[in-house]
Amino acid sequence: MNQNFLSGFIILLTSQLVFGYLNLYLSLAEVQRLLGLEAELYYVRDGNINNYALNFVMPVPSSLNSLHFTWESLADRPLLYTIKVDTSDSQILLPPQLNITSRGSVPTTLQTFSLSLLCSGAATGEVNVTITISVTITPSNVTTLMFRRKKICTKFEMQTNHVLVHTVPTYSNSTSIFYTAIVSALILIIILASVTAAYYVKNKKTRDTTSASTGPTTTFLTTGPRNTVNTSYSSFRRMPSYSLIDERSKDLQERITELTVQRCRVRLSNVIMEGTFARVYQGSYTNEEGVDEPVIVKTVTDHASQIQISLLLQEGMSMYSLNHKNILSILRVSIEDHTAPFLLYAYNNYSNLKIFLQKCKLSPEGVSHTLTTQEVVDMALQIIQAMQYLHKKNLLHKDLATRNCIVDDKLNVQVADNALSRDLFPSDYHCLGDNENRPIKWMAIESLVHKTFSFSSDVWSFGVLLWELTTLAQQPYVEIDPFEIVAYLKDGYRLAQPINCPDELFAVMAYCWAMSAEERPTFTQLHICLQDFYTQLTRYV
Ligand SMILES: *[C@@H]1O[C@H](CO)[C@@H](O)[C@H](O)[C@H]1NC(C)=O
Ligand SMILES: *[C@@H]1O[C@H](CO)[C@@H](O)[C@H](O)[C@H]1NC(C)=O
Repeated sequence: MNQNFLSGFIILLTSQLVFGYLNLYLSLAEVQRLLGLEAELYYVRDGNINNYALNFVMPVPSSLNSLHFTWESLADRPLLYTIKVDTSDSQILLPPQLNITSRGSVPTTLQTFSLSLLCSGAATGEVNVTITISVTITPSNVTTLMFRRKKICTKFEMQTNHVLVHTVPTYSNSTSIFYTAIVSALILIIILASVTAAYYVKNKKTRDTTSASTGPTTTFLTTGPRNTVNTSYSSFRRMPSYSLIDERSKDLQERITELTVQRCRVRLSNVIMEGTFARVYQGSYTNEEGVDEPVIVKTVTDHASQIQISLLLQEGMSMYSLNHKNILSILRVSIEDHTAPFLLYAYNNYSNLKIFLQKCKLSPEGVSHTLTTQEVVDMALQIIQAMQYLHKKNLLHKDLATRNCIVDDKLNVQVADNALSRDLFPSDYHCLGDNENRPIKWMAIESLVHKTFSFSSDVWSFGVLLWELTTLAQQPYVEIDPFEIVAYLKDGYRLAQPINCPDELFAVMAYCWAMSAEERPTFTQLHICLQDFYTQLTRYV
């Protein structure tokens, strides 16, 4: 008895406790992730416990949000275990979650389990995490292993190492919850969606048999629209319902009357954009004081139908009488019998944002500069301000996208209405067999399924717009057939993180695409979050 105890003690001292039936280690990939080393790290190999490894308090960088352990029972039966996780702080670190049950059996085949370590973002600090695993060899022999980790958390942790936090201002509690949710959304979506996105093909039936030869980041980066939409007359047959919610008293007719000017005051110079029916001209307008103002004129050709004309008026009037520096409001309307109406907008050397972005991509030497992250965030902030204003007026946009924004050479951005966009950007709109030509790939899931629109559905579209800004206006989900989009989104897939897109920005996008509308941020929250990111970007320049 005494001798048994002594030999056990000696075995402990030499760190080689015999514990026959178990392997427990960190895989090559995990060690690489944690320590940057090319090695496996065994805590228990063939029953031998490596106490040196166990006693090492391993730091977990702020950028790592989970730990992975691999184990197997070498006995010819599963071994019962219990796992317990204790942390020194529940404010800084969210309660860690295991993806195996806290009580179960070690399988006889290799199993990897993970432990999430998510910072709450509420404060900066180090949190001690102790993982206690007890394995029952026999009913009377329970061996306990303790793993110690030190998780580093930074305030508003956003999965990167380059954001310095010591001077970050304090925020209200709701904002930190928002950040936490962003982090969770980031993890869920980056890990689940972008990694698996490459495997998804149009046809669900063939999905499982498709090889994963294309990398996840390239999946959505192929340029060029694959589906060219028939822009024929028939796609306009039914009146789509894109106009803004209008609680303002005046009806369309009254508003048009209010803005009407005689045709002789309008002069068209050159066409700047055209579609099958749509024409956008640069021109000028002689105002009441007899002064010429440069204008953009939206109109349609003589071949346009009555419905196209009324759609042009309806959509063109949706931003009527709005007054915000980031919104392009209609200036005047000119209607003469037997010709298409002219919709006039102030012209300040702005051009279409989508076309502007695509030019940046196609000829980097042609534009004065390529876009920096700071500029992208600045443009996003301007759009957010426009949307905050719209939502404060209780208006929805319902078609927020870069094609419906304009930009000048100082990168001032304005949100415009969507009049003529269906014809000018036919590959951005799709008919899902109901004659309603809709911006399918910008729409929130509930808008696609139930045709319901809300402030939150505008937020979803903003997420896609942000993705466009960071990809220089690539087509979203270029690989996905429009008819498959609903199923694709329901399965949890989302747009992949663009190359060179900072994690912070992608986290914001991902959060805009939360399945449930209530979980998405408001434009006010987006404003706080991106403003903070913008400040961090500018601070160290
Ligand atoms: C527990 O099991 C291990 C491995 O089977 C064995 O080496 C050890 O002596 C046992 N300890 C006790 C106290 O029974
Ligand atoms: C737990 O998560 C890891 C990493 O995500 C995964 O590899 C593993 O298969 C999961 N294990 C279980 C039992 O779900």
